[in-house]
Amino acid sequence: MAGGAGVAVLSGRGKTGRAVISALGRAGAGARPLGRAEAADLRTAMRGCEALYLMAPNMSVDEPAFVDSALRAAREVGIRRVVHHSVAAPYAPRMPHHLGKAVAEDLVRRSGLDWTILQPCAYVQNLLPGLRADPPGLDVVYDPDRSFGLVDVEDVGEAAATVLLRPGHIGATYELGGPELVSVRDVAGAAEAVLGRPVPVRRTPVREWSAGAGAGLDRRVHDWLLAMFAYYDRHGLPAGPGPLTALLGRPPKGVRQILGRELA
Ligand SMILES: NC(=O)c1ccc[n+]([C@@H]2O[C@H](COP(=O)([O-])OP(=O)(O)OC[C@H]3O[C@@H](n4cnc5c(N)ncnc54)[C@H](OP(=O)(O)O)[C@@H]3O)[C@@H](O)[C@H]2O)c1
Repeated sequence: MAGGAGVAVLSGRGKTGRAVISALGRAGAGARPLGRAEAADLRTAMRGCEALYLMAPNMSVDEPAFVDSALRAAREVGIRRVVHHSVAAPYAPRMPHHLGKAVAEDLVRRSGLDWTILQPCAYVQNLLPGLRADPPGLDVVYDPDRSFGLVDVEDVGEAAATVLLRPGHIGATYELGGPELVSVRDVAGAAEAVLGRPVPVRRTPVREWSAGAGAGLDRRVHDWLLAMFAYYDRHGLPAGPGPLTALLGRPPKGVRQILGRELA
């Protein structure tokens, strides 16, 4: 898969897509990012590619339909290899956007294509806007002491390139978590050490979020995010480091290391 079109990366210009494409580039493989502009004619957009990195846009209204049409298009243009970007704990009926990924995973497994499924936990990078603000701070709509397997999106990109380019991953599903379980408060502590200034943590009440940051959102996205916050508030989102360590051939990067790089 050296050079050329190589891998068609759906949602390839977003946060994850950029990490996947740069990891493919470092490994000497070509990639073609596909987004809204190409969505109307996926067949034409994918033609000539050898593999598909199948990633739905964030909070897709109908992720199974999106994945189904991408799988059909791949089959029609002769792409046999597909890697599906899902999420840690996809079967979580209380989080509609996770459940959409669980249904999509089933479509991928029954697609007849050579598939691999990646299930990344939430990225450390999701918290960067608050950490880059002046003054920095983390405001979350859930318990800041819950545990998450927060992962580096760059490590996820590297794992994606590995399963796409190396043999032995067809029919495998890998949950991708960071090296240890951490809370939002732990992330703030790591950021304080990197920035050398206080990083206060605040739990925003749901009503305040709905009237503020959530006010401009589409109603469905607003409600799905509230469902996610309620789940995080009770359960966090734990995910272990084992599969990612094996794929990278090294431990995944920890919060302190990631923030050292991102906040430098
Ligand atoms: N963020 C996390 O912590 C996390 C963790 C695990 C899994 N995930 C999953 O990873 C995936 C990508 O997340 P992300 O945070 O990287 O997303 P993102 O940065 O918001 O990027 C999503 C991309 O989707 C494209 N897009 C939007 N609407 C589209 C449409 N109707 N048709 C085709 N493309 C469309 C956009 O591309 P254009 O602007 O080029 O059109 C955008 O660049 C999502 O499925 C998400 O659930 C995220």
